[in-house]
Parts: sequence; structure tokens; C-alpha cells
Amino acid sequence: MYLPFLLLCLSLGVVKKCAAGENWCYTGCEHTPTHWGDLPGSFCGEKRQSPIDIVTSQVQTDPNLLNFTFTNFFSQHVKSLTNNGHTVKCTLEGNTAEINGGGLNGTYSLDHFHFHWGDTEQLPGSEHSINGYRYPMEMHIVTVKKGLTLDQALASSDGVAVLGFFIDATDVDGDMSGPWNTLASYLTATKGTNVAVKSTISVADLIGDVDLTKFYRYMGSRTTPSCAEAVVWTVFHEPIKINRNLIKQFPTKTRLTNIYRPTQDLNQHEVVASPATPLAKNYIVHLWHFLPQSYCAGARQSPINIDTQKAVVNKRLGPFTYTNFNNKNIIKSFVNTGHSVQGVLKEDIVEVSGGGLGYVYSTVQFHLHWGSSPRDSMGSEHTVNSKGYPMELHIVSKRKDLPLRVAKQTPNGLAILGFFIEPTITTKSSSQHWKTNSTSSPMPATEAWKNLTKYLSAIKDINSVVEVTEQISIDDLLGDVDQTTYYRYNGSLTTPLCNEAVVWTVFKEPIQLDEDLMMMFPNQTGYRNVFRPPQPLNRRTVYVSKSTVPRSVKLFVLLTCLHFPDYLHSKYNCLVIRGYEYY
Ligand SMILES: *[C@@H]1O[C@H](CO)[C@@H](O)[C@H](O)[C@H]1NC(C)=O
Ligand SMILES: *[C@@H]1O[C@H](CO)[C@@H](O)[C@H](O)[C@H]1NC(C)=O
Ligand SMILES: *[C@@H]1O[C@H](CO)[C@@H](O)[C@H](O)[C@H]1NC(C)=O
Ligand SMILES: [Zn+2]
Ligand SMILES: [Zn+2]
Repeated sequence: MYLPFLLLCLSLGVVKKCAAGENWCYTGCEHTPTHWGDLPGSFCGEKRQSPIDIVTSQVQTDPNLLNFTFTNFFSQHVKSLTNNGHTVKCTLEGNTAEINGGGLNGTYSLDHFHFHWGDTEQLPGSEHSINGYRYPMEMHIVTVKKGLTLDQALASSDGVAVLGFFIDATDVDGDMSGPWNTLASYLTATKGTNVAVKSTISVADLIGDVDLTKFYRYMGSRTTPSCAEAVVWTVFHEPIKINRNLIKQFPTKTRLTNIYRPTQDLNQHEVVASPATPLAKNYIVHLWHFLPQSYCAGARQSPINIDTQKAVVNKRLGPFTYTNFNNKNIIKSFVNTGHSVQGVLKEDIVEVSGGGLGYVYSTVQFHLHWGSSPRDSMGSEHTVNSKGYPMELHIVSKRKDLPLRVAKQTPNGLAILGFFIEPTITTKSSSQHWKTNSTSSPMPATEAWKNLTKYLSAIKDINSVVEVTEQISIDDLLGDVDQTTYYRYNGSLTTPLCNEAVVWTVFKEPIQLDEDLMMMFPNQTGYRNVFRPPQPLNRRTVYVSKSTVPRSVKLFVLLTCLHFPDYLHSKYNCLVIRGYEYY
């Protein structure tokens, strides 16, 4: 009955006038999403609409969002697929799949599931987004409160519970087989016909190994007209991963493209998350001074721009004494802190003194700051003559005679050693000559960083921790970078609460690291530009140690530069020349 009716409508070119509830579209008709509110009986212009952008920094954890219980999600199989002109809707055999728990008030019975996607050129098409990021697709499992008819459910503020799953694209060939491939094989451009599914695919098969304890929750609406405000939304944090080519089959085979509603205002509503959901911390630095008890607006804040012309030479800034910097078993764990990664050291083993510090400091941890690309000069916190580096390493120590709590409130309670990191300079054949002849060119500390960055894939979630078993010492990470030439000033922590308790040491010579390894930090964590910009120096003085690198070496470097003009292309050699000019 339905198909000929629809065909008639199409042939008349007046789809919008055909049937009540069917006179809307995503594109190419009178009632596109911005006009859905004009439809008779529509709630689409109201204040509790879906989908939304989930801004994780504004999401609170709700301890009541306990685990879901899924009943018959494995045993019930997909019965049919229907291209209804707006999406592909899938129904199950039987009527016994149910959910409860997950903070829902009651048991909900599965009605159907359907999809939202973008276009054949792989433009993303999920309905919800996370921090502005839209996934390629989204699956909605629609359930209705047990004991209510669909009409009753749509009239109740929590009558419908929808489970939203993001679908992400992978290039893994293996993902072409299995349930998603089977499902995609039934996709059709023919509208209004139920295509019977002969294979056995369960909803659980499609969900795969998504962690069902990590999810967001808010009260919203259906995302298609009439947009009834009857939906308890659950949006799972982890996406389902399927092959890129399978995702493409949805718009291609159905000839439906960009079938998603744009995100709606949250208005005064709240999004909460289950306790297991990692919530990215805010890195909006200009708002830090609003944080309670924050020192971030103080007068001796870090980082700073170091103006080398104004740095005062201080003869007391001699060499450092390091204890256990060469110990290969001192990194206890590697942690994702929500805005960086931190190597936590075993307690009371590693120490720093000398270097004009005046006290013995116990090294507690090291962490990194970075931008978005190793080829960018943005990423370090400190800058030298307004020049930044792509990364910066901070080795954090506290005064040995003070507990950490007290050290954080004492003007010289903490000592941080800062090292810039720049990409390894790879010159052509002549580089061999350079390396063997120069004593001041640092050997890249590649092996240690390779071993360390291996752990990044194990700490993708915020607050996740991995135990470090590789043999890596602090010395290994520093390589043979020159540690005699450094800047010294009084400053603060560079993250809230920005305690003004830090004696800063910023070394002049950068550590060299392979670009591939540097890229792993933004790529594996998903964090980019995790650095605070330079703060006003105010009345502070920046001191500089007297370089102890023999002049003859620097002279040699300079001569080498002049002798092999190729080297002058390299940033590093130019730095060395500038160094010569200063001291
Ligand atoms: C929830 O599920 C997770 C993983 O399945 C499990 O580790 C955890 O103990 C469960 N929590 C409760 C309260 O049952
Ligand atoms: C849970 O649902 C029942 C019946 O639908 C309702 O009477 C009750 O008020 C609801 N409880 C909460 C906390 O929403
Ligand atoms: C840091 O502050 C202390 C106390 O005001 C002062 O004695 C010291 O010289 C300062 N150090 C630097 C490097 O400015
Ligand atoms: Zn939907
Ligand atoms: Zn830092």
C-alpha cells in the first residue's frame, strides 16, 4: 500500500503535501530542519531539543548512572531493514530485547534502531558532537518505557530512551567483515520496502566491544519531527569502529545523504556522565584566574619570554649536581593528566642540587607541553627572544626538607628544570661529517623516547595510568644536551592554581627528538596546544649562567658553518652561531 502511494507523491513532485508527519526533509524541500518548528503539532522549536554538542568541560559526573543491564541483546536478531526516505530503520525479531539500569527510571523495550550519516565524500554525519567534533555516523537504538504505548510514551517526559552510539571510520581491513558488512549488504535505495534479513545479526554484534559503562546523559527530544520532548538520551563515549568503505556504503546504496539534524541549544539543561566517563579538563587559560583560590593572576607568573639581551650573567649559577639521574628504574608510572602526560618517579630517589638553587630538591615527576605539530614553533611554554619551540619538558622537584603541601606555598619550595625540544636536524650526506666533528651537537636521545612514547597508547583515557617497566633514566631522556648554560628566574606553576613557588631553570640548548615521536603526543592523547602563553615579567630579573662550553668548540662550530654553507640551512646551526655571539 505504502510504496505506490509514495511513488505517486514523488511523481507529482509534491512530497511535502503527501502524508501527515512525512512532509519534512533534511534538504531540498520546504520544511528543512530550521523550519521543522513550523509543522503542525511540532515541538521542534521548543527548549529541550536534541541533538546537542556535548562540552565535556561542563559535564558533571553523576554517581547514580550505574551500569546498564541489557536483556536479549545477543539473542534477538535483526529481522528487516527499511529505507523510509529519511533513514534506514531496522527491526528485530520478537519483542523481548530490554534495557534497564544506567540511571533509567524503569525498564524500556527495544522498538527499532536507525542511523544518521553524512555524504558519500565522507563528510561527517553524527547528530551529537563532542566538544564540537562530529563523527562520521551515529546509531540510535530507540526503546519505549515498558507498559506504555508509543503514543503514551511520546507524551511522557521520559517515555522514550534512546541509546546513541557514535560510529568512527577505520582503515582496518578486518573491519570489513562481520556484522556490519552483513548489515550493509541489505542496504537499498528502494524506499518503503521491508528488506528481510536472512543472516543472523544481533544488536550486541553491532555494538561490539564499546565500553558500555562510559556514557553521557541528558533529557532531550526526538531528532525528527514532531521532535517530541520525551527522550532520555544516553550517548556512549566510545565510538563503534567500522571500516571507512562500509560507512560510505550507507549514503551510496541508499541515496540518502546528510541525514542528520544540526545541534540544538542546550538552554538551561544539564549533561551528566557516568562515573567511568573521562571528562577532558578545561585548558581555556584566560579563565584560570576565575578559579577558586587561584594565583594565576599574580605578579610572578610563568612561563615568560626570556629576553637574552636583558638577562643578567650570574657567576653563582654553576653546574647542577644530580643524584640518580642515571638510574634506569626510577620511572614508576606514566599518567594521562587530562592536559598532559606525566612520568611519575619513585619517591625520594632522584635529587637535584647545585646550580645556584641553595637547597636539595627531590624530583617528583616530569611532564611535557606541546602544540599541534613539530614543524610549528608553538608548543613550548617559555620563549626565548619571542621564539617558541614545538615542545617543552618540565622536570619538577620539591625542596627535600618540606612536604609537598608546604613546598607549594613556599616561594622557593619547587624547582622546575625546563628543556626545549626541537625536531632532530637531519641534513644530507654531510651530516656525518658534522656529527663526528662537533662536540657540542647533542646526540638525539631517540631510544629512550621511543621506549617512553610506546606507553602513550596505553593511557588514552584521562586519569589512566600505566606502569613503566622499560629501563629509562632521566639522563637517557636528556641525551647529551648542554646543561651548563641556563636561565634562572622566580616564577610559578604554569597550570592552576599557578602557585608562585617555583625557582625556574630553563636550559638554553634544546633536546632533539624525531618528528615522528613528537607527533605521538598530540596524536595519541588527542590534546593539542597544551601550553600556557608567556606571562608579564613585571619587576623580575632573569639571570643567565656563565657558559662553560669552551670557546674553541664554539669557534669550531662557527667555522664549520662557514666552511660548509649547507649547514646554514639548519636552524640548529644558526642557534649555535647566535650562542657564540652572546657569550
Ligand atoms: C560495571 O561494569 C564494569 C565493567 O563491566 C565493572 O567493572 C563494574 O564493577 C560494574 N559496576 C557495578 C556497580 O556493577
Ligand atoms: C519513575 O517512573 C514512575 C512511573 O513512570 C513515576 O511514577 C516516578 O515518579 C518516576 N520516578 C522518578 C524519580 O522520576
Ligand atoms: C627569588 O626570590 C628570592 C626572594 O625574594 C630572592 O632572594 C632571589 O634572589 C630571587 N631569585 C631570582 C632568580 O630572581
Ligand atoms: Zn535518530
Ligand atoms: Zn609544565
